[in-house]
Amino acid sequence: MIAALLFFYLPLAYSQECFDINEVDFTFYCRSGSDDWIVSSDYPNGLWATVISNPNLVWAVIPESDFIWKNPTYGACNITVTKSFFLIASATSVNLYLVCDDYATATINDLNSCKATYGSVSICDMTSAIKTGLNELKIEAQNTGGNGGLSYKLEVNIRL
Ligand SMILES: *[C@@H]1O[C@H](CO)[C@@H](O)[C@H](O)[C@H]1NC(C)=O
Repeated sequence: MIAALLFFYLPLAYSQECFDINEVDFTFYCRSGSDDWIVSSDYPNGLWATVISNPNLVWAVIPESDFIWKNPTYGACNITVTKSFFLIASATSVNLYLVCDDYATATINDLNSCKATYGSVSICDMTSAIKTGLNELKIEAQNTGGNGGLSYKLEVNIRL
């Protein structure tokens, strides 16, 4: 019930690391999946992301996060994915895990640029970008040809 009041964006999971009547730690995750809305000049009307498999298992993996983005033409193609979420308390730490074929840049509230290039998982500390209230995660991904794939997981720790 408390968790339901915390976020506009439906939390995928949260954990209570300790339970104290005065202080509670929550971890809130926001990750790639079929509820991502994709826009770009390549998708001017927008579309829901398609969950795709890891082609020949060549992409670096973020456990528990799907790869999204079906690139029907296999040509150069860019996408932007945004997710908004609401925090009623300040975050104690925020980490973003990001993988892209080929390149991605992620920000929160247009701050703390986190870059990923093909082949590895980027892990970025986004703590200073986040604020109490409404926050926006924005990921701009670029595919230069062939398969395009994006996977991310945002881990937000807050203390009440
Ligand atoms: C994708 O974005 C990059 C970087 O902004 C740009 O150089 C490129 O032309 C874009 N590609 C397409 C197909 O729009």
